[in-house]
Amino acid sequence: MSNKKSPEFNFYEAALVKRTELFKDCTNIVVGGGNLNADILFVGEAPGKNEDLTGVPFCGAAGKNLDKLLESVGLNRNEIYIANILKCRPPLNRDPLPEEIRAHTPWLLKQIRDMKPKVVCSLGNYATKFFLAGGNIDEMNSQPGITQVHGKVRETEIRSSGHKRGIRDSGFGIRGEGEGEVLKFKLIPLFHPAAIIYNRTKLTPLWEADMHTVKEVVFNCVRD
Ligand code: URA
Repeated sequence: MSNKKSPEFNFYEAALVKRTELFKDCTNIVVGGGNLNADILFVGEAPGKNEDLTGVPFCGAAGKNLDKLLESVGLNRNEIYIANILKCRPPLNRDPLPEEIRAHTPWLLKQIRDMKPKVVCSLGNYATKFFLAGGNIDEMNSQPGITQVHGKVRETEIRSSGHKRGIRDSGFGIRGEGEGEVLKFKLIPLFHPAAIIYNRTKLTPLWEADMHTVKEVVFNCVRD
């Protein structure tokens, strides 16, 4: 895995990810990218083909659109951090399975714990439903979709790890530092940049307006 060199590569979490079927067919674990000191964390769904080959998140068509969208609101990748719900590409970009989300998201939560962003922007339905469900994968299906919740600020609390998320059952014994820590942040869901490619006229202004909210919240928010 080429991005073992990434400062946020975590061997413990990588071991959990490596136990999933997804890992067998993937070229790189895509940990995340950007500025770890940023106020804003973007969370997408899963790496695609280009991300799998390079180890870099959002480097394909969706990523190029994300760069344009960021530029339109006066930001760039050095001012955000970006990660995904899954760290490995699902075959043929199929939807993530519940057990994959369960195995891969402890790492994402650890990234949130370490980074302490002022705002988490979930991109599209999967990431949004994960956070709206408070990290309870069994409740993701009953959450509202992105069209209903985009741009709305939600105070979110989520446990960084624990029994409910099945971590203790994974064969690694009791988790160490930070076990059960409650992470608190403001969630602002955004349309996924890939979806915007197919509906630019309607979704680009909504994305830009939602990012205006993000910037306002960041401006008014004191970091813990
Ligand atoms: N789409 C995502 O959700 N994440 C990526 O890294 C690339 C495309």
